[in-house]
Formats: sequence, C-alpha cells, structure tokens
Amino acid sequence: MRILFLGDVVGRSGRDALVARLPTLRAALRADLVVVNGENASHGFGLAPDMARAMMGAGADAITLGNHAWDRKELIPFLEQEPRVIRPANFPPGTPGRGAVVVEVPGNRRALVVNVMGRLFMDALDDPFRAVQAEVQRHRLGAGGTIQASVIDVHAEASSEKAAFGHSFDGLVSLVVGTHTHTPTADYQVLPGGTAYQTDAGMCGDYDSVIGMQKGGAALRFWRKMPGEKLAPAEGEATLCGIFVETDDATGLALRAEPLRQGGRLSQAMPAV
Ligand SMILES: [Fe+2]
Ligand SMILES: [Fe+2]
Repeated sequence: MRILFLGDVVGRSGRDALVARLPTLRAALRADLVVVNGENASHGFGLAPDMARAMMGAGADAITLGNHAWDRKELIPFLEQEPRVIRPANFPPGTPGRGAVVVEVPGNRRALVVNVMGRLFMDALDDPFRAVQAEVQRHRLGAGGTIQASVIDVHAEASSEKAAFGHSFDGLVSLVVGTHTHTPTADYQVLPGGTAYQTDAGMCGDYDSVIGMQKGGAALRFWRKMPGEKLAPAEGEATLCGIFVETDDATGLALRAEPLRQGGRLSQAMPAV
C-alpha cells in the first residue's frame, strides 16, 4: 500500500496549499491512502467542519487532530457524523469522537488510522501507549487479516516519547509518525522490525514563521511574558511536509519511507515513484 501522511495543516496558507496541491500529489505518488493532521487548520487553532470537508474533498482519507481538537466547538457534533476525522484516542472515556478509524482502500483493502497524544510537556491524558496497544490488538495486520496497513499519528512534544512509541510498536504497525512540533525531522526510516518511523512529519504551513504563526507576535511572547499577545498564522506560501511509505500488503510492514517537502521555503524532497 502506498501511504502519504502530511503533518499539521496551519491556517489559510496550509489549507489552501493542501486543497490546491493534494489532488495532483496524490495522483503523482499513486497514493492509496492519505492521512492529514488538521488540528491547526482554522486560523491556527482547531478544525472547522467545512475545512475538514474541503480537505477530504481534495483527497484526505482520514484527518487526525491533537491538543487543538476542541478549539472549534462546531467540530464536536461533526465528529459524531464523520468517523474519518479522529481525535487522540487517550482522552478519558466519555470524550466526544473516536480515536481510531478503519478506512477502505482501493483493491479491497483496509487501513487502521489511530491518533494519540503524548504526555511529556503536554496535558495529562490517559496512557497513550496502552491506548494504541488496545486499538492495534483489535485487528490483524496483513494478507488475510482485518487490515492491510496501520498508521499511528503520535501527537507529542518530546522526541524521546515519539521514538519510544516507534520502537514499542516496531513490527506491529506500518507507520508511527510524530506531529505537533511542526518541524520535519531527518530520522525517517524503516525500523528493524519493519515499521516506518519519523519523529515529526513537519507542518503544511509557511516556514517563515514560528511554527506556522507570524514571527513578530510569536517572538514577542517570549520577550515579554504578557498574557494575550495575539498569534495569527503566517500567510506566505506553505511547504507541504510529510512522509511517504510503501508497505507490503502481505505483512502490512514498510518497504521504504521517504520524506516529502513540497513548495514554500524548505528544501524540496519528493519520494521516488
Ligand atoms: Fe499542530
Ligand atoms: Fe499540537
């Protein structure tokens, strides 16, 4: 299976670039499954339902979230109607929405997508490791199994926690990819057990910014510790950042993992087709 995962879409710059370029990108890569993190799509904070629809219309099969899941309240009823938009699985029981979804993939295949949030330097949530373990154990990966691929979006601040995730699920899932820092890391690889891994996919947003937000206001927040300094997304051309993974349907494990950085200011990287 050919899987494209794109990191946090930030504001109008990220959204417009994603919606404009994903159809061509999806076709060029012959991607079977596209997963996008949408937690910052609405002016940097949350995801409005019409934006989720636009992203899915452009080719996203599933949308993951993170700590900004609840910034747009109108998403809460939408999560009940649209199972392909998921929030971290380790919110406490009773939280609206779902933390995982199985999507249909061409060729009579299915893929599990799980979203989970880390606990280091973030809000205290339930154990993310056991939450992912529970989701993964509901399925059997590979030919003749219930799913032919599985993607885990680990929305976390600390690289150590994300690396621990990768190794904990190495050989059990197709891809463990980090989000939330908005900075793509160079450690994309296929781990020894066959799971593709990258500490952070990066964002889909303007990199002339402080993690997607206008640099002046964002820097001032560090110089002056005044509450309420306004943050707004940067509006220059976005770089779409993510990881492309090709898996073996027989095992559900990765054959290769390559970075994608397209447009905007960052050095460009396009996976081999
Ligand atoms: Fe984010
Ligand atoms: Fe985040």
